Amino acid sequence: MSLRSRNTSVPLGVYVHWPYCARICPYCDFNVYKNREIDAARWRQALTRDLEYWAERTGARPLRSLYFGGGTPSLAPIDVIAGVIETCADLWGFEPGAEITIEANPTDAEEKRFADFAGAGVNRLSLGVQSFDDAALKFLGRDHDGAAARRAVEAGLSRFARLSFDLIYALPGEDMRAWRRALRAALAIGAGHLSLYQLTIEEGTAFARAVARGRWAPPAQDVAADLFEAAQEETARAGLPAYEISNHARAGEESRHNLLYWTGGDYIGVGPGAHGRLTETPGRVATETPLAPALYLNTVKTAGCGASLFERLSDEAALTERLAMGLRLKEGVLLTPGEMAALAPWRDRIAALGAQGLLQADGARLAATDRGRRLLNAVLAALFA
Ligand SMILES: C[S@@+](CC[C@H](N)C(=O)[O-])C[C@H]1O[C@@H](n2cnc3c(N)ncnc32)[C@H](O)[C@@H]1O
Ligand code: SF4
Repeated sequence: MSLRSRNTSVPLGVYVHWPYCARICPYCDFNVYKNREIDAARWRQALTRDLEYWAERTGARPLRSLYFGGGTPSLAPIDVIAGVIETCADLWGFEPGAEITIEANPTDAEEKRFADFAGAGVNRLSLGVQSFDDAALKFLGRDHDGAAARRAVEAGLSRFARLSFDLIYALPGEDMRAWRRALRAALAIGAGHLSLYQLTIEEGTAFARAVARGRWAPPAQDVAADLFEAAQEETARAGLPAYEISNHARAGEESRHNLLYWTGGDYIGVGPGAHGRLTETPGRVATETPLAPALYLNTVKTAGCGASLFERLSDEAALTERLAMGLRLKEGVLLTPGEMAALAPWRDRIAALGAQGLLQADGARLAATDRGRRLLNAVLAALFA
């Protein structure tokens, strides 16, 4: 056992970032790079070595979840995906019912790989559908059309016990009727989980440049707020209510991996630009790997671990993060007696936000109201100012 004492009561997951995409979408500011020749053996070796470092540090704690995100991990060599799953099984093992998710774009080429993913142990698929409408997909610069998206969802549903897909809404000119119609059609497909993201204009993207030049504008705030409210109604009516700001699920279909982020669980982040959090004694540790793929591979080679940043969070920073993440959930945060005591200096602000109908405190539970969740950034700014 290392000098750091381990906390085995906190659930643990692994996030693997695969940074390559066939092409870069004009709205996306994730850590992504255009696909080029991949040295599968080198990636497999680097990810294995990084995971071995973390297993040594955490000790034996079966994993609740493993998540391949990106980028486009569904384009990664299958050897890399299967290798990571095997390595995790050997190093930690999985909890019964553990969730193994891969993100995929809904192209026909990727659909052909679903069987390989399932064969390797993936049991949940997250498809970046974005829209089923050809014109919207063209605007978003996507590689697929609506028919390919439907084919991929159908193929995914027949292959995986659990499936989620992402839609982006609040595109320029999108009105309430069009959005409700699109949402009802999407809900009728019968997936157990949906992620609905309002289009965000991220700095440095092609969309940010287009908006700055006045080529088009996203819908006004009040229109976007109405579209958000419509999403709450439609999904609840279909039996997939919101359990988080952008995430909707049938009961039991919530993302177990993302719940680790929102409930203060532990997660290891490997691959370029991956973040991690571990509960250790004397405190929670935040980690980050280098963004550039070549730098990540080199860091693992020279240091035996991919993380280039290790930060021990102060109690205050850890509590702030716990609220920022936990208040995203409809059920909010169940505070420990220690956290309740630490929150005492914020009591007046919590009461003021409660009076504005943005927060609700009920004993040890602190939650944002529906409106508070939609305005969560402003609520957090007011809380922590
Ligand atoms: C990092 S992507 C990975 C999924 C996969 N590569 C894809 O594009 O289908 C995860 C999701 O984030 C959402 N997303 C990315 N950038 C966004 C933006 N600027 N506004 C809204 N949603 C965004 C998309 O719905 C996307 O499916
Ligand atoms: S949205 Fe998905 S496919 Fe497009 S650039 Fe971002 S990660 Fe890659």
